[in-house]
Amino acid sequence: YRVSTSFSTQLRDRLAPPLWEFLAKASEQAQKRGWHLYLVGGAVRDLLLADPDETLLLSDIDMVVDGFHRSADVGAGVELAKALQNTYPEARLEVHGQFQTAALLWHLDPVLDSLWVDIATARTEFYPYPAANPEVEASSIRQDLYRRDFTINALAVRLTSPRAGELLDFFGGLRDLRSRQIRVLHANSFIEDPTRIYRAVRFAVRLGFQLETQTERYIRYALDSGIYERSLIQNSKAPALQTRLKAELKYILQAPYWKGALKLLGDLEALKCLHSTLELDDQLWKQVRLLERCLRRFDPEKTLDHWQMRLEVLIAHLAPEYRPKVAKNLQLPDDSIKRLQQLDLDQANVAESLPACIHPSEITRVLKQYGLPTLILIAVQSQRPIRRLIWKYLTQYAHIQPPLNGNDLKALGYKPGREFKQMLDHLLAATLDGEIRDRADAESFLAKYYPL
Ligand code: CTP
Repeated sequence: YRVSTSFSTQLRDRLAPPLWEFLAKASEQAQKRGWHLYLVGGAVRDLLLADPDETLLLSDIDMVVDGFHRSADVGAGVELAKALQNTYPEARLEVHGQFQTAALLWHLDPVLDSLWVDIATARTEFYPYPAANPEVEASSIRQDLYRRDFTINALAVRLTSPRAGELLDFFGGLRDLRSRQIRVLHANSFIEDPTRIYRAVRFAVRLGFQLETQTERYIRYALDSGIYERSLIQNSKAPALQTRLKAELKYILQAPYWKGALKLLGDLEALKCLHSTLELDDQLWKQVRLLERCLRRFDPEKTLDHWQMRLEVLIAHLAPEYRPKVAKNLQLPDDSIKRLQQLDLDQANVAESLPACIHPSEITRVLKQYGLPTLILIAVQSQRPIRRLIWKYLTQYAHIQPPLNGNDLKALGYKPGREFKQMLDHLLAATLDGEIRDRADAESFLAKYYPL
């Protein structure tokens, strides 16, 4: 199961020096206590995938301490993190769960991003064998890795001696990295953790890998078995599941490769995880593309959360009665839940009022009560004639101002008061409709309708 290539030199040559130094210090501290320390997960994967000449900039490191099966060492990860905090006093320490994991977060080096280090204690049963037995010795890290999602994420590099730098590959991760496959470790993986369906898609698209055939079958099986809905209803951990699902969705929808990932989610029918009726049909795909045009045109500065707008378009594709529930389940912000709740009514109103509008001022009167996100949602859901009017409003009418403002009215001798708003609205309408082109037009307009 092991590939004995030594990674010590690779690690030293390819990590930024402060990172390498940190790993060396961590392994020294573990070694002193008689523990094994491993680098696991994404860092090992990315190290093996990266170009050999490339310096790897890791911002997220996962390590596992193996406490040699002594029950006294269940808190090994936390103890190690504390020891490292003494060496790096700027690091913030977080302890999760009772004993098992700790995280350190700090700015290791000014040129690097902030560094997040997770240190877990290998979950292990306490075997009654002497720890020196190499099979037993390896068994707890093996078990720890076996709980993970994909073979390419279940590789480890031993950082402590003896055999420091050894790559541990129990499940064929290296083979799958070479043949570019996303493969789960066991049949139940997606049933145990449905968010892994989204992770499989994310890694496949991001790395340009294929879903291994059997893994794809497991995904479809998990989805068909209704696992997701069931775990939501029956499992008391459902809120945690929703939080993680949202995090995965966000990760995917804000990534540069989001389109490919969404396509693959659609092909797998994995949008069922959001609602059993949600499918990426041609109509939804077209809406998603229209959304991108709207966002590029109307929000180039990215004042809206584009990933969230993408999610809203998916949710808006559901029957109106399901939308608020799904938005709430996914813990979207209140304004977003409200928007989706209102969308049906707003859309009906627009569809009913707009066709009767002839003048720009009438179109503006209908549309100006809505915020940009609502208008975008309505536009992508509507037929072409309505969409064109919304587009016209957003590109032109919404930016038009009358040539006179409130101060100008005062300067002209009008008394500030309730009538001002009416006058300004009237001026705006006439400007929109082309009756007023400049200040002189505006003044004669006032003289005609609001003589002093
Ligand atoms: N993991 C898992 N199941 C999950 C989430 C995570 O098994 N639902 C495991 C994976 O083995 C992963 C590790 O936990 O390698 C760390 O998770 P995360 O940081 O999310 O993934 P990375 O592989 O580091 O990916 P990224 O590069 O996207 O951060």
